[in-house]
Amino acid sequence: RRIAILISGRGSNMVSLMEAARAHDYPAEIALVLSNRPDAEGLDRARDAGIEALAIDHKAYSTRESFEQALDEALHARDIEFICLAGFMRVLTNWFVERWAGRMVNIHPSLLPLFRGTQTHRRALEEGVLVHGCTVHFVVPELDAGPIVAQAVVPVVPDDTETSLAERVLEQEHLLYPQALRMICSGRARLDGGRVIFTDSW
Ligand code: GRF
Repeated sequence: RRIAILISGRGSNMVSLMEAARAHDYPAEIALVLSNRPDAEGLDRARDAGIEALAIDHKAYSTRESFEQALDEALHARDIEFICLAGFMRVLTNWFVERWAGRMVNIHPSLLPLFRGTQTHRRALEEGVLVHGCTVHFVVPELDAGPIVAQAVVPVVPDDTETSLAERVLEQEHLLYPQALRMICSGRARLDGGRVIFTDSW
């Protein structure tokens, strides 16, 4: 399947997906990296890896809809079949989400449904949870609320700071996202009636 990765920043999850997809038996091809920020570090990292990297600056569009229309056109022009959001920091409208329903996943740095939204590590520390982690989920109109494909858990340790906890979670994100995408693209995880059905073990 031809995949586009949507980013806004450094793109470390994008790199982990690109690296995994280089394996000859990986069931997906990263065909495009798209950023809403022209200065996203990840764009250069994608180009260095020989992948087409495109910026569509949301600031150049007067409405969310017209920005998303441009995104959608760029994706269709390249026969993209599936989207991975990886640190993409624009909220998508229902129109876009419905168009890509069942064909778009996101990685979120918390154990959903806990800590939807931003500043997940800070909030986890504030709440005093002893485990934290990350989630790959299908995207639905409600933010960070879609059917869960995969999760990884990390401990929260006594001296953790937001930075140390974020690093520990990020390490797991880099392992989890390629695994989750593999499961989806090989048909081992599929959406059925708003839930993910697993047909095989890991
Ligand atoms: C990750 O923690 C991801 O879960 C969150 O934003 C961060 C993006 O990091 N949504 P990167 O751009 O993939 O390095």
